[in-house]
Amino acid sequence: MTGATQVRGGDQGVVTASDDDDVVGCGFCDASLHASNLTVRAVPAATVVLMAAEELELIAIEIAREAGDLARRRRSEGVRIAATKSAAADIVTAADREVEALIRDRLARRRPDDGFLGEESGAERGTSEVTWVVDPIDGTVNYAYGIPAYAVSIAAVTGEPEPQSWTAVAAAVYNPAVGEMFHAVAGGGAWVENAEGRARLRVSEVGPAGALLATGFGYDPATHEGDLARVARMMPLARDLRRIGAASLDLAFVAAGRLDGYFERGLQAWDHAAGALLVTEAGGRVGGAPGGRPGRGMTIAAGPELFDRIRTVIESE
Ligand code: IPD
Ligand code: CA
Repeated sequence: MTGATQVRGGDQGVVTASDDDDVVGCGFCDASLHASNLTVRAVPAATVVLMAAEELELIAIEIAREAGDLARRRRSEGVRIAATKSAAADIVTAADREVEALIRDRLARRRPDDGFLGEESGAERGTSEVTWVVDPIDGTVNYAYGIPAYAVSIAAVTGEPEPQSWTAVAAAVYNPAVGEMFHAVAGGGAWVENAEGRARLRVSEVGPAGALLATGFGYDPATHEGDLARVARMMPLARDLRRIGAASLDLAFVAAGRLDGYFERGLQAWDHAAGALLVTEAGGRVGGAPGGRPGRGMTIAAGPELFDRIRTVIESE
């Protein structure tokens, strides 16, 4: 097959693509490419499924961008803490609520049959297969302090709307403070768009100096001792450790090879739903410990070899 309007099959599923093996179809591709596929030839069922996922990716990207730009605008006007949640350090700003309301409104208009699971406004089941999992501002403490590491995180998942069983199909993580959009579609790769252009994401391989690791700490002070003890056990694997303060960006950075690995206890579904797809589409692994999927107990993300080493340290607790 040659030429940009062909449809190509393979282990990753059937994707729209040019004949460059390194570039597979993605939601940011030329929409006319997809349109021409739809109109000029019979499209196999798997392709239709992926095209639908690409539509979801485009919606996630578009809404994340609008929502992130609102968050950044509100930030420049001054942050108002609206409430505290699980602990005094667990804050919600007026912008968290406003941004989630905007995302929910946009999704309801575009995808009225889909379900919704958001950090600030809760869950609503839909009648379609799809649920949107949303953190309107991940890294709220950074946002409140003016540290430019916060993100809008939007994932489209299918199946039961709970992280132990869902399948993530599309994701966008947008950091409006630096203008970086990370996005992925299942089977179509993970990508970043920023001032330097557009690049496909790949996880790193750890060098001889050890792994650049990241972690996070829960808001409940009672959990800090255990989390710090885990960090101490992990340090023999590390060249250094980062605490960025936004789980979706930690995961995006693992996908981009800016971090070698990440582990954190206590994440909520909306913290990891989008970022986990970025990592797996960038060739990495995401899971919990012991075994299983990421969740409240533990989230680990890394390239395949480092993933096992991190998990071994955690499981030795
Ligand atoms: C938090 C951030 C932080 C992580 C916490 C999360 P929020 O999300 O992702 O990095 O350590 O566990 O709750 O509260 O800023 O949306
Ligand atoms: Ca949040």
